Amino acid sequence: MAKTKDKVIIFDTTLRDGEQAAGGTLNAPEKLEIARQLERLNVDVIEAGFPISSPGDFEAVKLIAKEVRKPIICGLARAHPQDIDRAWKAIKEAARPRIHVFLSSSDIHLGYQLKKSREEVLHTAAEMVARAKKYTDDIEFSPMDASRTEPEYIYQILKAVIEAGAITVNIPDTVGYAIPDEFGKLIEGILKKVPNIAKAVVSVHCHDDLGLAVANSLEAVRRGARQVECTINGIGERAGNASMEEIVMAIKTRQDFFQLTTQINTNQIYKASRLVSELTGFVVQPNKAIIGANAFRHESGIHQDGVIKMPITYEIMNPKTVGIPSSSLVLGKLSGRHAFKEHLAELGYSLNEEDFNRAFNAFKELADKKKGVTDRDIESVIAEEQRTVSEVYHLDRVQISCGDRGIPTAAVSLIGPGGEVLADAALGTGPVDAVYEAINRIVNVPNELTEFTVKSVTEGIDAIGEVLIRIESEGITYTGRGADTDIIVASAKAYMNALNRLLAAKKADG
Ligand code: KIV
Ligand code: ZN
Repeated sequence: MAKTKDKVIIFDTTLRDGEQAAGGTLNAPEKLEIARQLERLNVDVIEAGFPISSPGDFEAVKLIAKEVRKPIICGLARAHPQDIDRAWKAIKEAARPRIHVFLSSSDIHLGYQLKKSREEVLHTAAEMVARAKKYTDDIEFSPMDASRTEPEYIYQILKAVIEAGAITVNIPDTVGYAIPDEFGKLIEGILKKVPNIAKAVVSVHCHDDLGLAVANSLEAVRRGARQVECTINGIGERAGNASMEEIVMAIKTRQDFFQLTTQINTNQIYKASRLVSELTGFVVQPNKAIIGANAFRHESGIHQDGVIKMPITYEIMNPKTVGIPSSSLVLGKLSGRHAFKEHLAELGYSLNEEDFNRAFNAFKELADKKKGVTDRDIESVIAEEQRTVSEVYHLDRVQISCGDRGIPTAAVSLIGPGGEVLADAALGTGPVDAVYEAINRIVNVPNELTEFTVKSVTEGIDAIGEVLIRIESEGITYTGRGADTDIIVASAKAYMNALNRLLAAKKADG
């Protein structure tokens, strides 16, 4: 990749490090859907996965490499010959393939985990980069746990791997231990003391264990790093990675300070955030910078007064810049197909005829129930419709009876895989339990409900309720979401969503 002095390369690792977050497993179609959104965001590099880690991840990386043509598609590999060969097999069809080789460098990792000397590690790193270089020119190398490694030794490793062909050298703060000034000095030292550093892009990869991932990354950029590895919503191993939306918006909003740019289409940030949250099941905290529900809400009277008079008084960014939909009323029950279609286009959706018809019908149903429909409602309706596209069982009807005296009872009917209607009823400790029991009697896949949360999409008594659940089966967690103005129906939809994902995963495993 050509080095430009003033551009920061955005390397997205949502599909690799992000997916390493506990409970965040994604299947191949889900990874592809996120990769397509990352392409719309215009990221420079997508780290699509760790191909040797599982057959499923190998297939997902392969699929992304074939389908997503604009960004560089990167596969991760340990410094082992089999890993490198497998990574290449997965990415070789990419328009622009990259292999990312990593090997620990700190004495802590060498002594306790690898049980290897510094000389051995130095030799293996260069040897494996040279092996990868036979496949493709675009090789990245990471000395893992770099921030706890003696700087002089990092300089030696980087010199050796650049000689062997690495064109990006990535400095990970693997355990989120660094402090901005210290990390910045490490980057400055690398740029000064590695003799052949001009032949490579210096990258950083920071974890958030001390809540400093973004600060460390930005300090590194200030001191000369020109690639940042980050994830949507900051998801990742343990406390996560540096959050892409925070890095990108800090560089954009404080252009006066950094004098740098990225090529990100920032108006796609919110959609990317929602999609990742939807598919991983990781809820975004309301106060999360840039994309949290409260990020642009002004509660204090003084602030509201200022924003009405002039937004710049209390808003350093315009919510539209990151694609946040407005929460004011936009459509009502008299809005027709044309108005709905135009509005969807304004929001950046382009649905095919069939999906549009389903979305329009769902919108009409909602408009009958709610006084006015907002962009957030529309977003929720479309997400709900998209969830049902590849279902094995579809929720047809749900009816419950409950109260403080009666025994909660539910009757449900589902449309089965062959289009047949399957109905059953059950009692439960509460209405949701009764509905789930009735569904279990039909679908009959053992699982345990491990999490259940409900929240409203907008304010108001007639708001849509969104339910997020997690179920566990044979040690694997599956998430499900459902939205409806009736929260019991939303709960049933969420359960069907999780069960359908479980069934799809079982089918893929044979
Ligand atoms: O955190 C880390 O060190 C990593 C490497 C594989 C780059 O994720
Ligand atoms: Zn990492």
